[in-house]
Amino acid sequence: MAVIDTPIGVPIEPLVHSPARRAGGAPASRPGFDADVAILGLGHVGLSTALACHAAGSRVIGIDVSPTRLEAIRTGDLDLATGDHERLGGALGDEGFEISGDVAALPRAAAVIVCVPTPVHAYRAPDLQMLRGACAAVVDRAVPGQLLMLTSTTYVGCTADLLLGPLVRRGLVPGRDINITFSAERIDPGQESVTQGSVPRVVGGATPECLERAADILSRYATDVRRVPSLGSAEMTKLLENTFRAVNIAGVNELAGVCRTLDIAVTDVVEAVATRRVAP
Ligand SMILES: NC(=O)c1ccc[n+]([C@@H]2O[C@H](COP(=O)([O-])OP(=O)(O)OC[C@H]3O[C@@H](n4cnc5c(N)ncnc54)[C@H](O)[C@@H]3O)[C@@H](O)[C@H]2O)c1
Repeated sequence: MAVIDTPIGVPIEPLVHSPARRAGGAPASRPGFDADVAILGLGHVGLSTALACHAAGSRVIGIDVSPTRLEAIRTGDLDLATGDHERLGGALGDEGFEISGDVAALPRAAAVIVCVPTPVHAYRAPDLQMLRGACAAVVDRAVPGQLLMLTSTTYVGCTADLLLGPLVRRGLVPGRDINITFSAERIDPGQESVTQGSVPRVVGGATPECLERAADILSRYATDVRRVPSLGSAEMTKLLENTFRAVNIAGVNELAGVCRTLDIAVTDVVEAVATRRVAP
């Protein structure tokens, strides 16, 4: 097979392309790729992201390691927000929306968005096994010109450890050959009234070029994109948000116990305090 000469002298095998088309019949927006976005991990966040990208006109490849999940997506037998159910109905019949269990499809996409779970294990320490596996698959198959974005909730330094470092060791130069970014998913679970696209996205990149490319992709389906100066600041933003929420939930749970002792309905108190509005 012929090889492509890259600016860094690392020979890369050319991609085998199927006809480039965009959802609805238009071509993929970046030459050399036959899909705009690949989403790795089609769970609650990943599937929603895939549907939002497709609805915004991108050609999408969704990839998940779970055959059960893929089957549920194919049959529409899922717990989804109403809007996503409608989008899925339209996407499943469209040639610009593929789903697959095979990471071999990754190099076909101009952008790869990683949406795999980051649970805690039995001792309540973060279990990064799935994230490590997903990032290793992305690193092994990364091709020049791609944008890679981590969206899973994780520790500060994770994007550098699992993407930036290994890609640099592969000989790819960030901002020139490959774009490496972090933008956590911030949707608040269970809030049907707030759509994914209406939650501001905070994004950091390994270089200014990476950041701009990520902001461009995100702005196709998010109405508000906020750039921060580094991968670490984007990762820390998500940690502060989750910590703030967890501390508040814990505080209100404590107060609920006190209210119970005093025979006060905590919901009355919460509704009363919510009457205070900050002046615009
Ligand atoms: N669920 C939410 O409301 C929410 C909100 C904000 C942030 N997040 C964060 O988003 C991330 C994803 O969460 P989720 O709720 O979508 O998880 P999920 O458990 O709903 O789904 C994750 C999917 O990833 C798949 N998967 C696991 N390893 C894989 C791999 N190596 N390659 C491909 N697919 C793989 C699983 O089969 C599963 O279908 C987490 O880090 C979570 O903390 C979630």
